[in-house]
Amino acid sequence: MKPTVYLLAAAVAPTLALAGAGEDFDRGYELAGTKGCLECHALSYRYIGPSFRALAETYRLDPDYRRRLPYIIRGGSAGHWGERFVMWPQPQLTDQEMKLLVDWILSQ
Ligand code: HEC
Repeated sequence: MKPTVYLLAAAVAPTLALAGAGEDFDRGYELAGTKGCLECHALSYRYIGPSFRALAETYRLDPDYRRRLPYIIRGGSAGHWGERFVMWPQPQLTDQEMKLLVDWILSQ
């Protein structure tokens, strides 16, 4: 596939519904990118916000958080991680995107 075609495909596939099984990591990562999460969060090191791995380690053992994180992410967060920054509300995700993203974060 030509690089330009590939880039175009990546740009017009934000719903990612057509991605096949086994591409879960890529789908989550790409969604985190298009929704702006990666501007403040990295996978494995602390950036402006905590790393997705640190979030997973903290929250994955508590089943309640799978349900709560969408509200936390939508509403924003401050003071939980001792960061100098706050996370402002992130209302830009549909329910489906949010579920995918939360599952993805917790699987890191
Ligand atoms: C402007 C920077 C910024 C953006 C954009 C951002 N975050 Fe955050 N995020 C932060 C900071 C800073 C914290 C730590 C806040 C705190 O100390 O409670 C955080 C915390 C979190 C937490 C943990 C919340 C808690 O209370 O423990 C989750 C989950 C999270 N972010 C997910 C996301 C997702 C998903 C996105 C994309 C939709 C996103 N963030 C976008 C900066 C950001």
